Amino acid sequence: MRLLSRKIKEISSILYRRLLFPFKRLGLEMSSKSIMLPGSYVKGTHLSGRNYLGKNTVLRNCFLGFGSYVNNNGDLTDTDIGKYTSIGTNVSTVIGKHPLSRQVAMHPAFTISDEIFGFSYTDRTVFDVSQERTVIGNDVWIGNNVLIIGGVKIGDGAVVGAGSVVTKDIEPYSINAGVPAKKIRYRFEEEQISSLLKRKWWDDDEALIRSNISRFYDIEEFLK
Ligand SMILES: CC(C)(COP(=O)(O)OP(=O)(O)OC[C@H]1O[C@@H](n2cnc3c(N)ncnc32)[C@H](O)[C@@H]1OP(=O)(O)O)[C@@H](O)C(=O)NCCC(=O)NCCS
Repeated sequence: MRLLSRKIKEISSILYRRLLFPFKRLGLEMSSKSIMLPGSYVKGTHLSGRNYLGKNTVLRNCFLGFGSYVNNNGDLTDTDIGKYTSIGTNVSTVIGKHPLSRQVAMHPAFTISDEIFGFSYTDRTVFDVSQERTVIGNDVWIGNNVLIIGGVKIGDGAVVGAGSVVTKDIEPYSINAGVPAKKIRYRFEEEQISSLLKRKWWDDDEALIRSNISRFYDIEEFLK
């Protein structure tokens, strides 16, 4: 009986994603002036406008700020992303945790009453799997093949190099890379960074940005 109800759920989910979601995707593209390539899928997610989701990118329970994109094969869950943020291909948030101490066995069958992986030995949930949301700021650049451990905060203007694993919070306007990601340097001088963080240009409307675009070509000109 359980197998049958699982199969029915599975089939309805496949039918929804293959047959109905493409129409929903078209509606979302039109209403938010966004581009969502084939195979991209969103659930419980807000697209703020002028967003781009690459092929097979999946966002679950996310907020995507204006102008931000997630390129092909992105897989983000419970994540808030600011404006004008650039996320490369194969970037994922890593969510889920298992007990590391006290509990004898780490498998969910010993700690969670829901039969997540098909069975459970306990009728009590003795391990809290909830996690804080991941936060990625405005004007952030995340390179290809990055893993972001769920719950970290990546500051405005920060960079994460290709192939990195982000395990800790990342400072605004810092450039970070490696496994685990470590700071290499900052993008700008300290005073320039604090001016940018106060100025929050990403909150300007499109017309203002467009008419001032030449000032964006040079940080000194911009902060004059
Ligand atoms: C991080 C990055 C932006 C370069 O930043 P940078 O400040 O110019 O860094 P540098 O090239 O001067 O390298 C500084 C150091 O960091 C190391 N480094 C740079 N990128 C790295 C990475 N992705 N992983 C690990 N180490 C890296 C360099 O080897 C160098 O090490 P060293 O000091 O021991 O010699 C770039 O390497 C990168 O990863 N870009 C992402 C590209 C990408 O994914 N593009 C597709 C999506 S748009």
